[in-house]
Amino acid sequence: MTNPLLLAIPGNETLASALSKQLGAELGALEMRAFPDGETYLRFLTDPAARSIVIVCTMSGPNDKILPLLFAAATARDLGAARVGLVAPYLAYMRQDRRFKPGEGVTSREVAHLLSEAFDWLATVDPHLHRYGSLGDIYTIRTRVVHAAPQVSRWIKANVTNPFVIGPDSESQQWVTAVAEAAGAPFAVLEKVRRGDRDVEIRVSDLRRFQGHTPVLIDDIVSSGRTMIEAAKGLTAQGLGRPVCVIVHGLFSGTAFADLLEVASLVVTTNTVPDGSNAIDLAPDLASAISELEPTTR
Ligand code: R5P
Repeated sequence: MTNPLLLAIPGNETLASALSKQLGAELGALEMRAFPDGETYLRFLTDPAARSIVIVCTMSGPNDKILPLLFAAATARDLGAARVGLVAPYLAYMRQDRRFKPGEGVTSREVAHLLSEAFDWLATVDPHLHRYGSLGDIYTIRTRVVHAAPQVSRWIKANVTNPFVIGPDSESQQWVTAVAEAAGAPFAVLEKVRRGDRDVEIRVSDLRRFQGHTPVLIDDIVSSGRTMIEAAKGLTAQGLGRPVCVIVHGLFSGTAFADLLEVASLVVTTNTVPDGSNAIDLAPDLASAISELEPTTR
């Protein structure tokens, strides 16, 4: 079997290079740029014919990524690729998982349909599964989910003294429980009321008994930052210190990162979205997921 060929969509070179080393797989070259009118130009500089292609592209800023991804997959097949897989460490469009108001589009389903048509398999990290039980509810291709919790708890154990783990809302219960148990730390889950994209209220129960611990706020996604910022304010209002904020997918729209730093003692993320705050490396876990999906890596 021929070795698979990894290709990075621009912006994903660091992770693609780490994965190629982990897997002992070739890292190919893909030229991709925008024409002056905004249309996408792409060219495979490494021949994908008869190869298993692994395209690496995290999906922060998804609308600029989806069309190039579809073009890359279709072009690989047009050039004779045997199989085309997608490594999307952050999988976008998972939060609109139902029609909350009449007339809304359930975009999680539409994106799942587009990607399932274009790719043979998908590897990702902690997709936002709230109302869906698994990716199989909407994706029709083979998928593997990497869980960040083991590496997050390892980071907490190594870097935080006497941690107290807090999730800002019921959706975070799944990560908080796993992380806190593995880190051997107490935990609490707060209550969130979201009134709009940037209008969030966090209700904090009485946590004063945890004064003296280091509060560690964890969430899967930070977008506007409002959830984590309001949660951090609620904790300090109870006499707990400024929290260490640990985020799986740091999307940080607008001034979110700077705003969060004003109420946190430290902000760290995994490397699913490239950022200066990346402190938790998930490349080895993603490489394992790829080798389960792509037979030529074994
Ligand atoms: C949804 O509940 C997620 O787990 C996050 O809490 C949410 O996406 C964070 O969004 P924002 O940073 O815009 O408050």
